Amino acid sequence: MKKWIERLTEELSDAFERAGYDRSYGKVTLSNRPDLCEYQCNGAMAGAKAYKKAPIQIAGDVVEQLQDSPVFSAAEAVMPGFINLKVDPGALADFLREMAADEDLSVEKTDAPRTIMIDYGGPNVAKPLHVGHLRSAIIGESIKRMGRFLGHKMIGDVHLGDWGLQMGLIITELKRRSPDLVYFREDYEGPYPEEAPFTIGELEEIYPAASARSKEDALYKEEAMEATHLLQQGRPGYHALWEHILHVSVADLKRNYERLEVTFDLWKKESDAQPYIPEMVAYLKEKGYAHLDQGALVVDVKEEGDTKEIPPCMILKSDGASLYNTTDLATIVERMKLFHPDEILYVVDKRQELYFTQVFRCARKARLVKEDTKLSFLGFGTMNGKDGKPFKTRQGGVMRLEDLMGDISEEMYQKIVDNRSVKAENARETAQVVGLSAIKYGDLSNQATKDYVFDIDRFTSFEGDTGPYLLYTIVRIKSILKRYQEEGGDLAQGSLREAACESEKALMLELTDFAPSIEGAFAEKAPHKICSYLYGLANAFNRFYHETKILSEEDQAQKSSWVQLLSLTRQVLETSIDLLGFSAPERM
Ligand code: ARG
Repeated sequence: MKKWIERLTEELSDAFERAGYDRSYGKVTLSNRPDLCEYQCNGAMAGAKAYKKAPIQIAGDVVEQLQDSPVFSAAEAVMPGFINLKVDPGALADFLREMAADEDLSVEKTDAPRTIMIDYGGPNVAKPLHVGHLRSAIIGESIKRMGRFLGHKMIGDVHLGDWGLQMGLIITELKRRSPDLVYFREDYEGPYPEEAPFTIGELEEIYPAASARSKEDALYKEEAMEATHLLQQGRPGYHALWEHILHVSVADLKRNYERLEVTFDLWKKESDAQPYIPEMVAYLKEKGYAHLDQGALVVDVKEEGDTKEIPPCMILKSDGASLYNTTDLATIVERMKLFHPDEILYVVDKRQELYFTQVFRCARKARLVKEDTKLSFLGFGTMNGKDGKPFKTRQGGVMRLEDLMGDISEEMYQKIVDNRSVKAENARETAQVVGLSAIKYGDLSNQATKDYVFDIDRFTSFEGDTGPYLLYTIVRIKSILKRYQEEGGDLAQGSLREAACESEKALMLELTDFAPSIEGAFAEKAPHKICSYLYGLANAFNRFYHETKILSEEDQAQKSSWVQLLSLTRQVLETSIDLLGFSAPERM
């Protein structure tokens, strides 16, 4: 269905045309002066030059054409030539009735669906999931859901880091602790035990220990690098250990992501791209894209007009070892072959921006992607603590995601118990749902590229621009609707009427902005735009709610009209928070 703002623009364009001007001047926008009008059109200002007329004269001509408009109840030309507009309450109610009847609440599915792969998550196997990976998961999940809602084919890939030095470090540390394990016997080729020689808890202790030791002991580090190399060469015992590490780790990661309500379509990993490397390297050499530089194989990626130095993309080190680059390029080859994406979007820490510039340029230059394949990078900022430094535990260590979620749930639990609105046995579950909204909204309401301060007190508050405030608003609506039904009311009955008061009209106007907000947020890959829309909508609803006695209204038609409005507001709020990746409880 046609958007509300488009309908307004159409009405204005017709008026321009009837007054003898070009219809392209009829663009209507939200008012800059909400105290004076709801919408405005600045087309007369723009047209003044072309028509060699004073803008106010053009505005006057157009306004004259709007006197009997069914869409606008007021149109006024004001100096120096703006057109101030108020919409007709009847036309507004008509639109909302249509919107309520529409399956997607007036959001149109795209007529040009694209296949978009989204690379988000990026956790490293064997290292605990920490807050650094939180943003990728939260932002990526939201963009994936938005794209899907708009009709695109979104393929989310977790892209596990399972091929780097951390594997060699773990193997080396295991060998130091238990040298007699069968995995370390060179004369043994299998079969290897099915059970891993460690639990997830042990694994999480082994990696930091190994990493710390490697920083102090050069020989140890060398051994770890050698182990990584041997693993990559396919040494059977190391391969078997790698499989154990993967298995134990992935089970744990899945549990964590599930709790975050983040789901990946693909659980691919860096190692999956390795088989594509030899052929890719041969191709890069043969076509002359890559050349040797001090023994290393590189592709030049600097371009004319670069304002800063973009170093070459290194494909193979002088000892023939592949790198993070190599894996990412081979992953692009793999993705093109298996999924034929129109776009690959990476949601990764913005400190990797230069790196991705190199990878993208190399992929494009060497034609690893099609000419029209889009490669895009959404780099997010750091999640800081209140001290402005990267978020840490109270002891100053890296904060594990699980612990962070536990802390937030606990905080919410206390608040919910204090509120006594939920039965004790449901309080834990409710605290998890609300806690998730606190974390996700706290993150998403900030522009992704910026650093932000993770402020537990603020994020868990029921007031202000927070997830819990939105959920509270939704729960409030749900409880009114439930009471209405308990008193014998039928949600399927009744029809939305014209607004009876100013705050009701303001709420209705907010609702019309749903589709443009979602579309705009997806086009700009900016979930924070959905957040600010939702905050405005929730505020508009609460203002209306405080001014209106809904359930005690005597006029049944009026009462059922309000119920329709509430029901639409609830649907818009719930659909939107689903796009952000969380949901509302029944009570809180
Ligand atoms: N594992 C990487 C890290 O922790 C992130 C991976 C991002 N995705 C990619 N295709 N490189 O830094």
